[in-house]
Amino acid sequence: MTRKSKKIYFDYAATTPVDPRVIRIMLPYFGKKFGNTMSLHNFGQDAKIALEKSREIVADLIGAKANEIIFTSSATESNNLALKGVAFANKNKGKHIIISQIEHPCIIETAKWLEKQGFKITRLPVDKYGLISPLDVKKAIRKDTILVSIIHASNEIGTIQPIEKIGKICRQKKVYFERSENQGSTEPKARYGPYFHTDAVQSFSKIPIDVNKMNIDLLTASSHKMYGPKGAACLFIREGVKIEPLLHGGGQEMGLRGSTVNVPAIVGFARACEICEKEIEKESRRLTKLRNKSIKNVLKIENSYLNGHLTRRLPNNANFRFSFIEGESLVIQLDLLGIAASTGSACSSMKLEPSSVLLAIGLKPQETHGSLRISLGRWTKEKDIDYFLKVLPRIIKKLREISPYGK
Ligand SMILES: Cc1ncc(COP(=O)(O)O)c(C=O)c1O
Repeated sequence: MTRKSKKIYFDYAATTPVDPRVIRIMLPYFGKKFGNTMSLHNFGQDAKIALEKSREIVADLIGAKANEIIFTSSATESNNLALKGVAFANKNKGKHIIISQIEHPCIIETAKWLEKQGFKITRLPVDKYGLISPLDVKKAIRKDTILVSIIHASNEIGTIQPIEKIGKICRQKKVYFERSENQGSTEPKARYGPYFHTDAVQSFSKIPIDVNKMNIDLLTASSHKMYGPKGAACLFIREGVKIEPLLHGGGQEMGLRGSTVNVPAIVGFARACEICEKEIEKESRRLTKLRNKSIKNVLKIENSYLNGHLTRRLPNNANFRFSFIEGESLVIQLDLLGIAASTGSACSSMKLEPSSVLLAIGLKPQETHGSLRISLGRWTKEKDIDYFLKVLPRIIKKLREISPYGK
């Protein structure tokens, strides 16, 4: 079979094309507006003005203050900064951190590394839809818990967590009693709950986020998942949160991230935020309709299942499981017919191990291998879904005929 010239992109969760409106606003910052934001002359000050304007725009999208946004190079960096930065700044208060079993690898690996430095990690389970129970969070919080980090929406199965409730639990004032060494008396000591961080890379710009309403102390977002360029991301850090920088240097980003600032990418990120803010409601409705159409029709295929929650999921995500076939073969066959999809997360698609997210929702290792994720976006059209729905049953039938798994 020859590769079809038709190109349908169903992998917006991996990365997105940069919107031409974003490219347009970035271009001058590669040319005549090339200044370093730390320079005192005009070139530097023009770049600085663009940087601070971008900060305001990004902050505005989530109800934050501009000085609560730190720009970084990627969500991986933001997540590392959130976990390691909070861990090391607060280790005198406690060394316990709570995450979930369905975090992105950059949280999972950072937590593992922190474990080696003496921190204690609790990994919360999820139910069969990938949902975390706020009650489990409540039960897991201990006197020495300094941070809870829960992904807002899964990059693999799209399930949206009850972030507001989890944030509320973390925010609740905890009072505990500590025995004073001198008189053996019991003195009340006021203490606030742990900081609450959420990795909102997949939800940012797709569903509304208000860091105040949702009781969020730290939040990660990434530009290349929302039609901005690669190389720009942010960490929202609520005023008053104690955090250590990872990159020590020239005092950029309020001393929290040394490095010359990537102005073109940040300006592009901010423009991408403006566009999303304007279009979020309409686009979310449009994508939900397309997503639901694909779910309804794909599930008509024999022995097919939906991974994740039917309704509490990202508007653009559908993740399926098909018995008796391998997701990789399916992705290759779809690609040959001009459809770019994925078996799950882009970061783990090269690994042969079963997806930790699919294992966490209770699938057996052999069941995890038959998954297919489609993630839709700004340029997905209904006719793309129709074409996908037309070719998919045929591919599955063909793969099942040659499958070593039975059927
Ligand atoms: C939920 C989530 N967190 C973090 C990341 C890492 O993002 P970045 O590529 O900006 O480092 C991704 C990327 O797939 C993601 O989906």
